[in-house]
Amino acid sequence: MRKFLWIIMLAMSLGVSAQNLTYWPDPSWKAPESAAAQVNPFANRPELAAGGRKLFLRNCAECHGKDGTGKAKKHSANLLIPAIQLQSDGTLFWKLTNGNTGKGMPSFSKLPEPERWQLVMYLRELKPAPTAR
Ligand code: HEC
Repeated sequence: MRKFLWIIMLAMSLGVSAQNLTYWPDPSWKAPESAAAQVNPFANRPELAAGGRKLFLRNCAECHGKDGTGKAKKHSANLLIPAIQLQSDGTLFWKLTNGNTGKGMPSFSKLPEPERWQLVMYLRELKPAPTAR
């Protein structure tokens, strides 16, 4: 039983150290109001988030991790934290379109617009892993 607890604790600490817990959004990286107010055109098509997952694994996981929790080493955001999830769809769309290249987040304006909205939808589906807390 003791051994079992140890394994759980080890797994938890590994899970915690891999993600970026110290991330806070850059206050100078701000979407213009008109962009922030943009509504996701696919809001009523939740089935499109599955495609967003594929796009995420292809374009984003290398820095943000497959589960979106970010990597401390890359200073990449943990995309599950409220500071990010509370931002509007339009804001997140603008941020991934323009990037914050000075801080290591590339611009994804090369992806077609519908794919960028699908990515935003997928960001909303990210959930903490059971061991993450
Ligand atoms: C080369 C590494 C890299 C890749 C690839 C990358 N990101 Fe990032 N991302 C970052 C870094 C670094 C930050 C933190 C930027 C900062 O400090 O402002 C970030 C921040 C973010 C944020 C946080 C915005 C905020 O409010 O602070 C979002 C959302 C985001 N990325 C989404 C994505 C998505 C979606 C993709 C794939 C399409 C992606 N990123 C690909 C490195 C990356």
